[in-house]
Amino acid sequence: MDLNLSGKVAVVTGASKGIGLAITQSLAAEGVTVAAGARQGSDELSELASRAPVHVIAVDLTTPEGPARLVDEAVARFGGLDILVNNVGAVRPRLDGFLAVTDEDWDAALTINFLTAVRTTRAALPHLVARAPSTIVTISSVNAFLPDPGVIDYCAAKAALSNFCKSLSKEFGPLGVRVNTVSPGPVETALWLGDEGVAATVARATGGDPAGVAKQVAAEAATGRFTRPQEVADLVLLLASGRAGNVTGSDLVIDGGLVKTL
Ligand SMILES: NC(=O)c1ccc[n+]([C@@H]2O[C@H](COP(=O)([O-])OP(=O)(O)OC[C@H]3O[C@@H](n4cnc5c(N)ncnc54)[C@H](OP(=O)(O)O)[C@@H]3O)[C@@H](O)[C@H]2O)c1
Repeated sequence: MDLNLSGKVAVVTGASKGIGLAITQSLAAEGVTVAAGARQGSDELSELASRAPVHVIAVDLTTPEGPARLVDEAVARFGGLDILVNNVGAVRPRLDGFLAVTDEDWDAALTINFLTAVRTTRAALPHLVARAPSTIVTISSVNAFLPDPGVIDYCAAKAALSNFCKSLSKEFGPLGVRVNTVSPGPVETALWLGDEGVAATVARATGGDPAGVAKQVAAEAATGRFTRPQEVADLVLLLASGRAGNVTGSDLVIDGGLVKTL
């Protein structure tokens, strides 16, 4: 299936690793010019930028000015914007329960998982409207509707994020900007499987081993495994493409059947 994405310009947040890297690689493979934002680069992203129209922008997206700087640099360099992928996010397991979650913890979770997307979207929308039909795809999480006290602040932030995107789809659909979310369950990235990831953090607290924690979580999915970053990227590209031209205000769940209810 031809996605007809060639020649488009995209901004991807959190593009150096994991899901954001897979999305950036996939967009580049379809002939999309990508402005890729992250605090640090990565070997994989540098390798991609050396052979494809991918421009790496070092930016801390949790700062008030970071998101607009990313968008402004992309537009200045590439002359416009067709696709925004709000991907950046992070989670810290709250192993000591809600009462141990401080204001600083809440502030950090809401900033990286919600406010970054609000600010990036605010900066991007005038450019997206100018180039309509255009699109926003935001990486939310099954935790937006699967509340879990172990990641209580992350869940609340992702719920806000999904709700925000649905509202946006109503205001900007008539202007030609489609807005959708993708909600993954556990994905094979550093967020879950890295040295400071969820599996290692839970294992340290419970005396288990990270592989055992991951295996137990994988077993909760009907498919019995984590999602691969490339599988999330493929959904994002479909939503970003005109092939999904009448899909807006939708949330696509990719969780291997982890969520058991309709
Ligand atoms: N993995 C999962 O199981 C899973 C499940 C559901 C939803 N999600 C969502 O999917 C998205 C991507 O997750 P992931 O698993 O791919 O995460 P990841 O592997 O930890 O990668 C996060 C990316 O964001 C960048 N980043 C982190 N903090 C940043 C900041 N302050 N400013 C700019 N860039 C920053 C990181 O690069 P630097 O460190 O260099 O900045 C990296 O490129 C997140 O929104 C996450 O909530 C993930």
